[in-house]
Amino acid sequence: EQIKKGSYDHFMQKEIHEQPHSLTTTMRGRLKDGGILLGGLKEHLKTIRRSRRVVFIGCGTSYNAALAARPFVEELTGIPVTMEVASDLLDRQGPIYREDTAVFVSQSGETADTLLALDYALANGALCVGITNTAYTSQIVTMAMMALAIGSDQISTQARRDAIICGLSSLPKNVSEVLKLDVEMKELASSLIDSESLLVFGRGYNYATALEGALKVKEVALMHSEGMLAGEMKHGPLALVDENLPIIVIATRDACFSKQQSVIQQLLSRKGRLIVMCSKGDASAVCPSGSCRVIEVPEVADCLQPVINIIPLQLLAYHLTVLRGFDVDQPRNLAKSVTTQ
Ligand code: G6P
Repeated sequence: EQIKKGSYDHFMQKEIHEQPHSLTTTMRGRLKDGGILLGGLKEHLKTIRRSRRVVFIGCGTSYNAALAARPFVEELTGIPVTMEVASDLLDRQGPIYREDTAVFVSQSGETADTLLALDYALANGALCVGITNTAYTSQIVTMAMMALAIGSDQISTQARRDAIICGLSSLPKNVSEVLKLDVEMKELASSLIDSESLLVFGRGYNYATALEGALKVKEVALMHSEGMLAGEMKHGPLALVDENLPIIVIATRDACFSKQQSVIQQLLSRKGRLIVMCSKGDASAVCPSGSCRVIEVPEVADCLQPVINIIPLQLLAYHLTVLRGFDVDQPRNLAKSVTTQ
């Protein structure tokens, strides 16, 4: 087992630190001459472009990866995207049509709820696409390549697509950069070790980052944590804010930046204990009073920023788990893949 872990103490740690490599492998041979090559999808592109909507279906982390992809899939394809947690789609027997493209996202490819939802979508005549990959960040990158391929016939978005392709090629380098926050995240983890709860606020491209960061803290560090849509803060969660509850606010640069600045101000005026994730050099822009703990991350193309932003949260969850004395690689009550309903 130690041989497989190499120089790392745990598999989770290895998986986190190997992301520059896993992302490179995910893109190898697929980003070519400024374009995207996705063999399996090519013959279906016309049908997908004509679909009434794209329905993303998955569970857990895979659902969150699809949620991270939703904004750029909508933007690059112009097709409305709806989200379905596999078990909930089955519980509701929700409408799936022949004109839908149903995209199934699963790391293992064997999650029972997702496979049953696939049978259901096939029976309803939808075009079904599967995305299986080993890491959250690779899933997002795969969906970015898919969105670029579907939207590749649109002249009006050519410049945007070029910028995203350029952002994809430099992602592994930026992921290596953000991994240098390891020691800082360990320090942050030691300051949170006795907290009962942790909130994570995100919006837009990084709503999914908030959900996924909180899920990791829950499932491995066994600490209560909730990812929340920052736009919903004033509709309930604000009542929880006090000087003890740690709150991570994701406020990297994108079209929602000024809205996140005002969220931070509202939280500070209620004496919130804030940890703000921002783009490099933005510490004073997000927290002029200097009263927040700041995590600065490299800035990449806005829609790819979730790939960078999740990494400090993965590191945080990892260190919190180790410091709290729990088993990182075998979380309590959980299976790596759930093959029963
Ligand atoms: C299980 C695991 C989760 C995972 C989910 C979906 O519940 O504990 O970590 O996100 O299944 O798995 P999948 O293999 O379909 O991505």
